[in-house]
Amino acid sequence: MTISGEAKLAGVSGWPVAHSLSPRLHGYWIAEHRLDAAYVPLAIAPEDFAPALTMLPKLGFRGINVTLPHKEAAFRLTSEHDPAALATGAVNTIVFDKGKAIGRNTDVLGFSAMLRDQVPQSLMSKTAVVLGAGGAARAVVGALQSMGLAHVKVVNRTPEKAVAIRELFGTSVDPIPWNDANAALAGADLLVNTTSLGMRGQPDLDFDLSSLPGHAVVIDIVYRPLETTLLTQAKHRGLRTVDGLGMLMHQARLAFAGWFGVEPKVTPTLRAHLVAALKAR
Ligand code: ATR
Repeated sequence: MTISGEAKLAGVSGWPVAHSLSPRLHGYWIAEHRLDAAYVPLAIAPEDFAPALTMLPKLGFRGINVTLPHKEAAFRLTSEHDPAALATGAVNTIVFDKGKAIGRNTDVLGFSAMLRDQVPQSLMSKTAVVLGAGGAARAVVGALQSMGLAHVKVVNRTPEKAVAIRELFGTSVDPIPWNDANAALAGADLLVNTTSLGMRGQPDLDFDLSSLPGHAVVIDIVYRPLETTLLTQAKHRGLRTVDGLGMLMHQARLAFAGWFGVEPKVTPTLRAHLVAALKAR
């Protein structure tokens, strides 16, 4: 469908942004719902992010997604925050509304929705190990806590950042040194990678998964490649795995609804569309 002069606009801001799957994802829903709208990549250098936030609503943008490295700056530069943004100190979605820039973090509810979709509810009261302690980890820990996980072990290379997550979310969070990761896996029901390890161009995660129980679910929020070495190792052990497209689709659904007033659906056809887009690169 072509767009008119009144088309509703949104986009994804990042630096770089060319790797983002979000234009494919939102473009799919715009076509599915036959909206007069466009969602575009916005390559914005860090020093240009603040002025861009002033200009984009003036140019008619309803809002934007925010990806690396702008999520913390987006938190500082938005005047109102939803509870998830406040809990994580990071914003991945901005809605421009009546002269205000409202900061949201749809990663938290997106991760929870993905868990409800793909992980047995019986594991939702137990123990999780989260690898990493950056912005994505804060969203994941917030989601796990809101789903009722009793114990979350946060394993990070820089120990102070794992300690900061405990300060943010309380004593159900246990900071664990990176070198103790293998021991932390014993008895864990969920393992979630939020680090950039395993992403194309980065070193692989090198963990021994043998101490994970047979019912454990291994989740990677990385989606490039779709099957990371961590997920391959988990499959070899016969464990259930979840790749990064689940969280990506669910966080996007909430952002789309905020800008365009339509609740799109996460479906197997959408997933197949994204898998094909990843393979085409
Ligand atoms: P995001 O917002 O995606 O979470 P981030 O805040 O930059 O991005 O966090 C990246 C995470 O990957 C951090 O936990 C980082 O560990 P440090 O806190 O020690 O930096 C982790 N990470 C990145 N490269 C790593 C590596 N080579 N080994 C171990 N952890 C790594």
